[in-house]
Amino acid sequence: MNQLAKFVSSICPATQNEAPPRKYGFRFDQRYNAFNERKNAFARLGIADPFFVPHDGVNNSTTKVDGREFINFASYNYLGLSGNKRVEAAAKAAIDRYGTSVSASRVVSGEIPLHRELELALANFLGAEDSVLYVGGHAANVSTIGHLFGQNDLILCDALIHNSIVEGCKLSGARRLSFRHNDLSHLEKLLQKHRPHFERVLIAIEGVYSMDGDIPDLPHLIDLKKKYDAALMVDEAHSLGVLGSSGRGVGEHFGVDPRDVDIWMGTLSKSLASCGGYIAGSREIIEFLKYTSPGFVFSVGMTPANVGAALAALKLLEEQPRLVETLQQRAALFLESAKSKGLDTGSSGGTPIVPVVIGDSALAVQLTQRLLLRGISVHPIIYPAVENHAARLRFFIAADHSEEQISYSVATTAEEYDRLRAGGRA
Ligand SMILES: Cc1ncc(COP(=O)(O)O)c(C=O)c1O
Repeated sequence: MNQLAKFVSSICPATQNEAPPRKYGFRFDQRYNAFNERKNAFARLGIADPFFVPHDGVNNSTTKVDGREFINFASYNYLGLSGNKRVEAAAKAAIDRYGTSVSASRVVSGEIPLHRELELALANFLGAEDSVLYVGGHAANVSTIGHLFGQNDLILCDALIHNSIVEGCKLSGARRLSFRHNDLSHLEKLLQKHRPHFERVLIAIEGVYSMDGDIPDLPHLIDLKKKYDAALMVDEAHSLGVLGSSGRGVGEHFGVDPRDVDIWMGTLSKSLASCGGYIAGSREIIEFLKYTSPGFVFSVGMTPANVGAALAALKLLEEQPRLVETLQQRAALFLESAKSKGLDTGSSGGTPIVPVVIGDSALAVQLTQRLLLRGISVHPIIYPAVENHAARLRFFIAADHSEEQISYSVATTAEEYDRLRAGGRA
């Protein structure tokens, strides 16, 4: 032991009675070991790890990996606006004027005029009184739910609700119960049984479910929320710019009054080609969140480039509803073609998320790798993200996918899947 080490151990009891590494080393953590086990399974099966593969260029209907071009079904750039020249120019202009960071929370000195412009534009587009921006969609859900609800409240979530809502529920300390996916009679039973025992009840759903590509029965949910005096929150991450004739989302799709939903949430990272999240609703909720929600107050404001890009994308969406029409037409084409080839598309319907259910995680990964060899990039969704029997390939369709790209990709998927099941070689 050198002099310094002797000195440190003489004055620091913690180093004298050092605990054996098993006590604190993260590599001994049970969850880490379980994760590592799953990760190593790829190597054992002789399959390359499908995660964190770097793409080159814009992630739109095509992408480049290792210098090779692929037809791309792995990005939620639904309207192709990431990569759009006007959106890029707006992001660059915002950087030129305001820099790359607003360098403070908006509450103190991070506010720039673009923030409020985007909040008002979003509220106007959605038919809400006001909206508030967060730096991420995930952060928007965690912070909003975590802040608005508490121990005396109940949150009823669809069983397939996104992780960000689950995390928000945990943070809030409210009781969380799940109802079977899109099963509103189950939801009603839970409301009948539990409503009287809680102060406030929130029903949390998505406008389009991100794993299955199906849509909730929003008018019925509104009836239930009114009948049981509950609040309703809709996460529109995958329905903004996607559903409704002008892309206003699931509310427009069903023609409901936007004021019948208490909390509209959405992300800027999908149709709006940026990064960030929003909450839209009544003036009171938004004002309360802006002054008190920790994920807003104690976090930096959205970057100038991201606000500029989202504003430009929203303007384009308003000016060009044809984009939404094309997206819906391409999504319908993909679904019809997949069904006609006998692929199991689960409950997907009328949305640009089409799962091809394989029912086995290893097989799903193998199929994606065969498709890569045929020039198609699509991501496997495997255990533990879904149950093994529900393992799938998830296709995101975009407005800029051509009809030819869709026909080729569906036919190739069916062909490679048949070969794989028959035990054939790639
Ligand atoms: C339903 C849903 N909500 C919230 C989020 C989080 O949004 P973001 O990725 O923009 O943080 C996602 C992300 O994919 C999502 O699918």
